Amino acid sequence: MPGKAGRRFMIIALTGTPGTGKTTVCGIIREHSQYRKQYHIIDLNRLVLDEKLYTEKDEKRNTYEADMDKLEERVKQVISQLPKGLDVILEGHLSHLLPADAVIVLRAHPVALRKRLGKRKDYSFAKVKENTDAEALDVILVESAERSKNVFEINTTDMNSLAVAKSIVSIIESLKLGKAPREFLPGKINWIEQAGL
Ligand SMILES: Nc1ncnc2c1ncn2[C@@H]1O[C@H](COP(=O)(O)OP(=O)(O)O)[C@@H](O)[C@H]1O
Ligand SMILES: [Mg+2]
Repeated sequence: MPGKAGRRFMIIALTGTPGTGKTTVCGIIREHSQYRKQYHIIDLNRLVLDEKLYTEKDEKRNTYEADMDKLEERVKQVISQLPKGLDVILEGHLSHLLPADAVIVLRAHPVALRKRLGKRKDYSFAKVKENTDAEALDVILVESAERSKNVFEINTTDMNSLAVAKSIVSIIESLKLGKAPREFLPGKINWIEQAGL
């Protein structure tokens, strides 16, 4: 588990407001000839749905409330069964609520996010707004910083997903060398200030 002496691999929580590109970038890591050998990705949304690790369905918002205790137990079990030496990426907007060595928060300008989420058939206008507001207010970043000292953020607004994948890998590699990936320390992104508010 995180912090245990002698372990060389890392557990990384890859989080961010829905639409920031977590699933897309994980698709790239899974398909990349080198990255796929080093990183094992656990898709938390998939795991919650496939194994019914939720408490109830929110009918109004058409979402499930994940059972975080059950999810944490199951993730630990999955990790314990992996071949040694792989780094683990926990993918999902709840990943920062699970134990991890570091948290990477994907960010996107709320206007860009609105465009990305607008394409989703299953997202109502209200749901898009809820997410762009949460992004504007740094909700996931704040939640992450409350739980972890190792939090980094990537502004994906003008990046393609391969560039985002490279940034994720560079953060993990720096951490494994005991270096702080300064470029990705939080605090550089301020959507409210950018909007002149
Ligand atoms: N870096 C990016 N730049 C532009 N659009 C992106 C980027 N990453 C993802 N998208 C698009 O945004 C939408 C949401 O991406 P997705 O990976 O499903 O986000 P998440 O898993 O974080 O909810 C998709 O339509 C995807 O094609
Ligand atoms: Mg996703």
